[in-house]
Amino acid sequence: MPESSIVVRPEPAGNPSKRLQAAGLTHATSVFEQLAATVPLPPAPRPIVVADYGAATGYNSLLPIGAAIAAFRRRTRPDHAVLVAHTDLPDNDFTALFTTLAEDPDSYARKDAASFPSAIGRSFYAQILPSQSVTLGWTSWSTMWLRRAGAELPTFDDHVHVEHSDDTAARRAYARQAAQDWHDFVAFRGRELSPGGKLLVLTAAVDAAGRSGYQPLLDAIVAVLDEQVDQGLLTRAEVARMTIPVLGRSEKELRAPFAPAGRFESLTIERLEVFDAEDRFWSQYQLDGNAGTLGAQWAAFTSAAIFPTLAAALAGGVDDPRAGDFVRHLEAGVAARIAGNPQQVQIPLALVVLAKPAA
Ligand SMILES: C[S@@+](CC[C@H](N)C(=O)[O-])C[C@H]1O[C@@H](n2cnc3c(N)ncnc32)[C@H](O)[C@@H]1O
Repeated sequence: MPESSIVVRPEPAGNPSKRLQAAGLTHATSVFEQLAATVPLPPAPRPIVVADYGAATGYNSLLPIGAAIAAFRRRTRPDHAVLVAHTDLPDNDFTALFTTLAEDPDSYARKDAASFPSAIGRSFYAQILPSQSVTLGWTSWSTMWLRRAGAELPTFDDHVHVEHSDDTAARRAYARQAAQDWHDFVAFRGRELSPGGKLLVLTAAVDAAGRSGYQPLLDAIVAVLDEQVDQGLLTRAEVARMTIPVLGRSEKELRAPFAPAGRFESLTIERLEVFDAEDRFWSQYQLDGNAGTLGAQWAAFTSAAIFPTLAAALAGGVDDPRAGDFVRHLEAGVAARIAGNPQQVQIPLALVVLAKPAA
């Protein structure tokens, strides 16, 4: 399965409470704002460059980037240009991105006349911005997507997620790929950051006890896929090809490229936290007791983030005529299972700040 099969449903514009459901975003935004308050800025008229790696529709980038620009403005003239480069894979919906930037009331582009949004449609597992150009980098919920999936990684047929597979060879191959991807991601950002530049990474993690989270969702997906096989809607071979090419990383794995000297491509780790983000759907359920809403919310989240990748494993690929029904059945089935057995979802996240020494 190519990297480009990853599709994320655009979020509705202008709904801050929904945006805040993105786990870990509030905390990461405040850290990003602190970085913007202190990072060395290029002298005007050279632009301050902010890179947003794996932006999708840009919906979840508006608040952190807006907060960073506000922090810059406390240190700059209002006309000091801020160039924002939103990056994603070539088949990302960049129309949705530019629509969000133009129309969302929280868009920094609507608030700051000297901000200049732009987009780059290339994988971040390569250098995609000029060397030493990026003042401040942001990436959230993106670097856990492996570069290669499906055909190029070994298949395993006992689960949709390799962490839960008994296939040791497959687990090792995925771990090797995740290590290589993190190594490359960091190396290329090391080149792109300007002296004194900082990069904030918010990504899926494995906690100190070795847990990668999301258990109720994964259990529900596997159960509904099995049901669909029993009902003749899917073949066992199709389900065997369905894998989620996302891997959380432990603190040790995140630190690996920096061993043993604590420095890699001239970058150091300034901050690294692994924490469980709040399951906001669960918090709401505890207040209102509405299991149907809990199921629907988690199913919609999972559907947007993961189901298009699973649908690409249907016999006819992304154009398989059953793809629409497949996703609808899976979403309804996952919603019903979560509603029938409400549980809190563990969301282990890592927040990493990488720093390049000032010149
Ligand atoms: C779950 S979305 C996260 C979007 C947004 N940053 C957020 O926090 O909500 C993951 C995004 O990462 C992008 N992505 C995955 N692999 C990528 C790669 N190799 N290069 C660039 N973008 C990538 C996907 O296309 C997708 O838009």
